[in-house]
Amino acid sequence: MTQRVLLIIGGGIAAYKSLDLIRRLRERGANVRVVLTRAAQEFVTPLAAGALSNDRVFTDLFDLDDEREIGHIRLARDTDLIIVAPATADLLAKMATGQANDLATAVLLATDKPVLAAPAMNPRMWSHPATRRNVRQLEADGIAFIGPKAGEMAERGEAGIGRMAEPIEIADTATQLLTERPSSKTGPLAGRHVLVTSGPTHEPIDPVRYIANRSSGKQGHAIAAAAAAAGARVTLVSGPVTLADPPGVAIIKVQTAAEMLAAVEGALPADIAIFAAAVADWRVATTAGQKLKKTKGSAAPTLALTENPDILKGIAARSPRRPALVIGFAAETESVLAHAQKKRTAKSADWIVANDVSPATGTFGGDWNTVHLVTAEGVTSWPPQSKDEVARLLIEEAAGWLAAHQTEV
Ligand code: CTP
Repeated sequence: MTQRVLLIIGGGIAAYKSLDLIRRLRERGANVRVVLTRAAQEFVTPLAAGALSNDRVFTDLFDLDDEREIGHIRLARDTDLIIVAPATADLLAKMATGQANDLATAVLLATDKPVLAAPAMNPRMWSHPATRRNVRQLEADGIAFIGPKAGEMAERGEAGIGRMAEPIEIADTATQLLTERPSSKTGPLAGRHVLVTSGPTHEPIDPVRYIANRSSGKQGHAIAAAAAAAGARVTLVSGPVTLADPPGVAIIKVQTAAEMLAAVEGALPADIAIFAAAVADWRVATTAGQKLKKTKGSAAPTLALTENPDILKGIAARSPRRPALVIGFAAETESVLAHAQKKRTAKSADWIVANDVSPATGTFGGDWNTVHLVTAEGVTSWPPQSKDEVARLLIEEAAGWLAAHQTEV
């Protein structure tokens, strides 16, 4: 699941840096919504913030009572983290006293989500007893702070503590806050290590060409995210995909099946291993060192292929260090269940998640999946549902199995 950040930009000269902060947060895979205070609009425009966040920008200009609008309550709740940057002396004072006379302060009072403030103000304002008091109060209320830093101020000749932290530092702290999940202590997979493979592999023909398949990695990435949300430590070994890295997951990016196998072996031991990657079955026997060229009059080249190692089969056959629960996928285009059952025993997997990937189903690359869970006990067919939901259910089943079998790695 993508993390959502609500960025409240206050009215200070540092507001221009918050435009860069939008970029930095989006680079880390966050969806960013922006609220501009009235004073902030003296420094940056809603147009600029909207272009960078790729979303509409919220200002006091919209009518909070209009049902068609997103109200301040929804803005406050439909997010995973609120960042106030720059947090001016005025905004901090309003937050500390619980005022709610504009959109930004109303959102801050209505939220139950973590809040990170990046103060920026004149050093004398920062050291003033009133601001000190407000900051102490806000810290006691659970607000996280980053900065301000020492340095030259916008006003000529002024130096001291008051500069807003750099966007990259704010984004790093935001990432930390977003990944400090309470579930890692209390979730059903707390203390467990889950290993997931995802995406296709690319098998090179020559330096510019490769053999690939249509896997998007959406299902594997969703499983990694669901395992992290359930409190597990997650290692995701991913082939080349265009997806954002799931939050709270250690990701190892690979290209080929051989690299994927090495990364998986390096990540063991694990309690649960889920092989959702569409690993290429074959690679080119001899990769050309230089780009293959057409030569006039000669026939098209023939590619000699050789079989790739079967990662799932290799890991499931391991002893010791076999993960307690090994789950494979079976991507089929016909006789789905028969093939899946055969794969389960042939590869010594505990469970196989079987799905029909015929082009008509739209599974490859799509957001929906219709799967059957094949175990030693039989087959359970799940209704068509989003890949996120399939991931959540699979992790729930796996956590239940693990709890019942109580095996430690
Ligand atoms: N798999 C793997 N390593 C391979 C091939 C497949 O780990 N070299 C895993 C996949 O991640 C998946 C399962 O094996 O969990 C089944 O993959 P699939 O492509 O459906 O099956 P194949 O073994 O490749 O069989 P076929 O292509 O003949 O259907």
